[in-house]
Amino acid sequence: MARVRFLLDDDKTFEASCADGGKLADICDAAPQAVVPFSCRSANCGTCRVVILEGGNELQSQDDEELDLLEIFRAPPSHRLACCASVKPGDGLVVLRAVREDE
Ligand code: FES
Repeated sequence: MARVRFLLDDDKTFEASCADGGKLADICDAAPQAVVPFSCRSANCGTCRVVILEGGNELQSQDDEELDLLEIFRAPPSHRLACCASVKPGDGLVVLRAVREDE
């Protein structure tokens, strides 16, 4: 079972196991605290952008909607939308954090 680790403010982390094909948004929703901000949840606003620090290859490829919005933000390849991204089946580890306002 894959794991997803969120780096939070103040050097805290939140880590959760993820069912095969699990969505990042579902993991975020199950967290005991807000780990990524959300708004539209449909690849329209960019609020949920995250930086993938490790394990980007453990995520399913972006669909056209996610790619289109990331392009609008001129996001580097390490950025994903937490409302869109899903984890591949397997035992991998994904490490990420929410995009900061100055990024
Ligand atoms: S919450 Fe709006 S793009 Fe993900």
